[in-house]
Amino acid sequence: MDKNKHVILVGMPGSGKSSLGFILAKLMKRPFVDTDYYIIKREKKSIAEIFDEQGEDNFRKLERQTLLKIIRHNPSVISTGGGMPCFYDNMDVMNEFAVTVYLEVTPEILFEHLKNNKKRPLVRDKTPEDLMDYINTSLEQRKQYYEKACISVQAYDITPTQLAMNLYKMING
Ligand code: S3P
Repeated sequence: MDKNKHVILVGMPGSGKSSLGFILAKLMKRPFVDTDYYIIKREKKSIAEIFDEQGEDNFRKLERQTLLKIIRHNPSVISTGGGMPCFYDNMDVMNEFAVTVYLEVTPEILFEHLKNNKKRPLVRDKTPEDLMDYINTSLEQRKQYYEKACISVQAYDITPTQLAMNLYKMING
C-alpha cells in the first residue's frame, strides 16, 4: 500500500464517510476534502439546488471534474458522495491515485441514518417503505463499484475514532 497516495473513502450515503474522513485526516496530518462540500463551495449552491436546477447528469459531471481536480492536490483524505464511484470510470481513477476504502454498513443502519434526512435529494421526501426499498436497490447496484476498493471495512459497531485509528495503522503499516 502506497502511504503517499490520497486516501479516498467510498460508500453509501449515511455510512459515515465525512465523520471518519475528518478524524482520519487529523490523525494523518493531511488536508481533508469532502467532494460534496467542494462542489457546494464552487457552485455556491446546495447539492439539492444543483439536482433541482441542473439535473443529476450535470451533478455527476461536476463530481467527475472535482475528482480529476483534487487528485492533483497534495495527498489528502477525501470523502466522496455516495454515487461518485458508480459513474464514468471514477472508481478506476480513484484506485490509480489513492488507497480507496469502502465503508460497509447494513441497510438497517443506513435507514436509521437517513430516515430524517432533508438535504440529500435522492432520499428526501420518501416514505419509510420507499426509503428502505431505495437503500436495498441502490446498495445492490452500487456494491459492485464499492467492492473494487483496496480496503473494505465494517463501519458499524465501532466508533469513528476507533475505525480511523485502525485504518491509520493499516495504511501506515
Ligand atoms: C448521493 C450522495 C450524496 C450526494 C448526492 C448524491 C448519491 O453524498 O453526493 O446527494 O448518489 O448517493 P453522501 O454520500 O455524502 O450523502
